[in-house]
Amino acid sequence: MPEISYRSADGRIEVVDVPEGLSVMRGAVSRGIKGIVAECGGAGMCGTCHVYVPEDGSIELPPVHELEDEVLDCTAVPRRDNSRLSCQLEVTRALCGLEVQLPDRQV
Ligand code: FES
Repeated sequence: MPEISYRSADGRIEVVDVPEGLSVMRGAVSRGIKGIVAECGGAGMCGTCHVYVPEDGSIELPPVHELEDEVLDCTAVPRRDNSRLSCQLEVTRALCGLEVQLPDRQV
């Protein structure tokens, strides 16, 4: 199972084995990781699963689609170039070792 790391705003890292096919958001919620709220349950509508992904290109992620792009404009903490909705990132082998940074708040 791919390992996904979640770094909280205070620097604490939790590593979760997330089954392929689940989203990065589901991996966090399944382990009760604080910092991911996911109010809409993964429908891509709420923006409360906002994360920052690595910018070094070491892990290739799918492109941001139109709705995700719109929702990222409405997150509680302003988006950055590396902002993504974790519910829109499906875990595959290609994401093995991904570390996402959680913003300091989601609402
Ligand atoms: S869980 Fe609502 S946008 Fe991701």
